[in-house]
Amino acid sequence: MSIEEADIRKVREATDLVALVGERVVLKPRGREFWGNCPFHNEKTPSFKVSPSTQLYHCFGCGESGDAITFVRKLDGLDFIDAVRYLAERAHIELKETGGSKNFGQRARLFQVMQRSASFYQQQLMRTKTPEADAARSYLSSRGLSGAIARKWQMGFAPGHGLLLSELTQAGFSRDDMIAANVAAKSNRDGRLYDRFFNRIIFTINDLQGRPIAFGGRIIGAGEPKYLNTSETPLFSKGSTLYALDKAKANITSTGTAIVVEGYTDTIAMHEAGFTNTVATLGTALTNEHIKILARFAKKLVYLFDGDAAGQRAADRASSLITKDITAESGPRQIDLFVVVLPNGADPADFLSLNDAGAMGKLVQDAKPLLRFAIDRRLDAFDLDVPEQRSRALVEALRILVPIYGTMLASNYVSYIADRLGVTYEVADSCFKTLKKESAYDDKRGLKETTAKEAGAKEAGAKEIDAKEQELIVSFVAYPSLRPLMSKAFKSLQWSREENKSMAQLLQQLDYELTPAQVSSILFDAFPQAATYIAGAELSADEEVAKNRVMIQMYSLREQQLEIATRRSIAKLRTLKADTEDYDSLSATIAQMQHELIDTRRKLSELPKGTAL
Ligand code: UTP
Ligand code: MN
Repeated sequence: MSIEEADIRKVREATDLVALVGERVVLKPRGREFWGNCPFHNEKTPSFKVSPSTQLYHCFGCGESGDAITFVRKLDGLDFIDAVRYLAERAHIELKETGGSKNFGQRARLFQVMQRSASFYQQQLMRTKTPEADAARSYLSSRGLSGAIARKWQMGFAPGHGLLLSELTQAGFSRDDMIAANVAAKSNRDGRLYDRFFNRIIFTINDLQGRPIAFGGRIIGAGEPKYLNTSETPLFSKGSTLYALDKAKANITSTGTAIVVEGYTDTIAMHEAGFTNTVATLGTALTNEHIKILARFAKKLVYLFDGDAAGQRAADRASSLITKDITAESGPRQIDLFVVVLPNGADPADFLSLNDAGAMGKLVQDAKPLLRFAIDRRLDAFDLDVPEQRSRALVEALRILVPIYGTMLASNYVSYIADRLGVTYEVADSCFKTLKKESAYDDKRGLKETTAKEAGAKEAGAKEIDAKEQELIVSFVAYPSLRPLMSKAFKSLQWSREENKSMAQLLQQLDYELTPAQVSSILFDAFPQAATYIAGAELSADEEVAKNRVMIQMYSLREQQLEIATRRSIAKLRTLKADTEDYDSLSATIAQMQHELIDTRRKLSELPKGTAL
């Protein structure tokens, strides 16, 4: 699948980089340029520059630079084609994709179906004189959701009776498209088409660009199901959509904070009370996929839970959101998660109808970090005055931290748990290590999902590193075509032993054209002990396979080195006093190593598998 050059140019021309970046970064004009805090690394003073004239960005802090396409590629982790698609949709340009499916044309038509349906529903709510529409209007006004609010939120009324069907048919849309957009469905009984939403109040769900992609239909008054939502369509997947994100993204970017609630009416109430950085999930709990989307705009996320029993259960389950993504290792996309459980069984809309915005603001302000919240709730389940319960509490609380084992965040919370239980850090930490080992053991037996990342994080002995370095040296000898590449990598590698380092230095000085036999004889002369492993090495005859193997060796070696170095530094950091210069500079070094580690692991995961030694 590819996109025509002309289309790519069109997309570039139609995209204003300042506006695009401005959706994610607060930009301030200075001279002819715009400046902001770099989204690719953490900083407090702006060193990220966007030029309207060249349509290029550059960061003087971390050196990232590029155009609109690189910007979305890097920030959203998209490949080239998806980045162009994203920008094309944003600019309302239809791409002529060659070799692809006809889906793009269909998507464009489905957007039109949805837009037309949304307008139809709105007209029905605003103007139709039927008893049903009257009932919808009076229900909404009884909840304070009439007039301007209903208009702003694209609320509507779905009459049913095939009225939407005939409207869409008249407008020339096909039955297939109506079914695909899920505004119509086929009857199981007689195969006839009927309106999906019938006598319901409609909440319109938009994509990031504000185009309708789904509807939530609420029953008027009491009844079941309370809400009926659009099912998955080519335009809509509930797991990756957040209600009101189109309206909230600007304020999320400028405040750096996103508030997440669970209902349509809660979102609207929050916006009307001034919290215009609020979004909602769509009948599901918040997932890591949602968090990734929000992390494009926000540095901080406040998850508001209803105070009723269901809300409390949801709050307890939120500890499943604790993954490496919320730690400094995830780089610039890191997002801090906070939690509020509303008092007295209220949901956000209830709370705001009983209290003023200031009270809500205070709750949001005082939100607890998710990790501390989750740990506190675990600890609260035990009677900490009973020794046996204290040690169970220790294990249960530490369990929460296992997914982020080895991070600075984890070790900070290990000491928090130790403090709360009145044990030493060492006791808590050794218990933590045991838990980690158990879970790694479970992973191996396939009892739990494991990621390549976690597998890579296991202890690596010096011996293993030494063996890897030797393998690299052998490859250098054996594959003349890989020598230029390896020579460059050799320079940045921190060799674990003086002898390996000297061998590498010697090799780099040799002519790349020498045959493997010539090189090994020179090497033997200087380092007779190298004979054992050079002779014993298994070499592939296939250059591609060999190259891939070498890349895996180099990156995994760097990965292991970084893992050990970060672990040591974190241990060292614990011995330093916070807020000192040493502490700050070591934390910065750790963060940097962690970024490199992530980057290295990413590169490693992008290599073809199956040829590792
Ligand atoms: P709630 O039951 O809390 O509804 O469900 P609500 O948003 O507060 O609505 P009102 O104020 O009673 O009118 C929260 C969210 O869960 C999803 C909807 O997205 C809803 O907004 N939900 C709820 C469904 O998808 N289906 C349902 O049957 C109920
Ligand atoms: Mn609710």
